[in-house]
Amino acid sequence: MPTNTLSPPLLDVHDLCVSFTSRGQVIPIVENLSFSIGEQEILGLVGESGSGKSVTAMALMGLIDAPGVHVSGSARFKGQDLLGLSGKQMRALRGREIAMIFQDPMTAFTPVYTIGWQIDEQLRAHQNLSRKQARTRTVELLGEMGVPDPANTANRYPHQLSGGLRQRAMIAMALSCNPSLLIADEPTTALDVTVQAQILDLMRRLRTTYGSSVLLITHDMGVVAETCDSTLVLYSGRAAETGATQDLFAHPQHPYTAALLASIPPMNGPRPDRLPAIPGTPPQPLERPAGCAFAPRCTYTHASCLPAPPPAFCTVGQAHKVACVLPGEGNPLPKRAYTSATPVL
Ligand SMILES: Nc1ncnc2c1ncn2[C@@H]1O[C@H](COP(=O)(O)OP(=O)(O)OP(=O)(O)O)[C@@H](O)[C@H]1O
Ligand code: SF4
Ligand SMILES: [Mg+2]
Repeated sequence: MPTNTLSPPLLDVHDLCVSFTSRGQVIPIVENLSFSIGEQEILGLVGESGSGKSVTAMALMGLIDAPGVHVSGSARFKGQDLLGLSGKQMRALRGREIAMIFQDPMTAFTPVYTIGWQIDEQLRAHQNLSRKQARTRTVELLGEMGVPDPANTANRYPHQLSGGLRQRAMIAMALSCNPSLLIADEPTTALDVTVQAQILDLMRRLRTTYGSSVLLITHDMGVVAETCDSTLVLYSGRAAETGATQDLFAHPQHPYTAALLASIPPMNGPRPDRLPAIPGTPPQPLERPAGCAFAPRCTYTHASCLPAPPPAFCTVGQAHKVACVLPGEGNPLPKRAYTSATPVL
């Protein structure tokens, strides 16, 4: 858990909106997203494919360079607004203060250099180290990430490593300058379950060994449950629900969260023949309904869901917020306490 929940958050994102322009049309991808990450906290950002998880991460890292992109809102990190930084200022921060790891480590490594050379270069770009000092640190880092025989592995090219080892090497590179915040975009999706468990364990240990906070992006509620202190559920580019992971899993308040949880196979007891599925698909960004984006798939849709998106986050408990009119005061529907065993859809 985060060491000090009273200190100001490390990252405080407010009203983040990201849109692209295509054929003269503005396509809103991420809408009014607000969240924060405390010191040494692991926040899970979860949502279906296309919900805007990677776009959110790339916007925070200043890595979207598509023509016609528009990013607004604020993202305060250690007192400065990331969204207001120049390219040069952002480059100085990336790697040193905020690092990102990707689903496919091949995208982070250049195939023509050894992984050791690439981690050495990253270290030397941000710290005043000789080649020899950089290599010593690279070997240390690879060893800390559980890479066997790190001195020899450092001399291998990315394609000569297994997927799990490449992922460890990428985390080593991301951590080489001891960043305060690590953004991990689906870091385990391509890995088998055993290696996935090892990488998640590594993530959990980063906060104690490196003091880092982590924004962990995934579409897997199981990964969130195992790894994250808090959870933010994204639906069609908008926040649906956020809260402490234990609380949100025990008492999901948004029908979408409840449905996601209901579709996880139970750990104990008999397995149902069929797990409940959420009917339909998320709307395309340009086809989002005027009201709640989940309304076409929600069992509880009623008149007040339709005119406008639900007000940003009615508080339903300390730090547990939901963008749904269902649990709000004066709602015609009864307040429900969902459990993960309740197949709501
Ligand atoms: N450069 C771009 N130009 C136009 N649309 C884009 C661009 N990049 C992403 N999008 C759109 O933004 C939406 C969100 O994409 P994003 O990659 O963030 O989804 P995601 O939640 O990360 O999904 P996944 O789980 O599949 O990785 C998608 O509809 C995608 O097509
Ligand atoms: S606002 Fe309405 S449609 Fe949307 S999730 Fe809540 S009950 Fe369902
Ligand atoms: Mg993605």
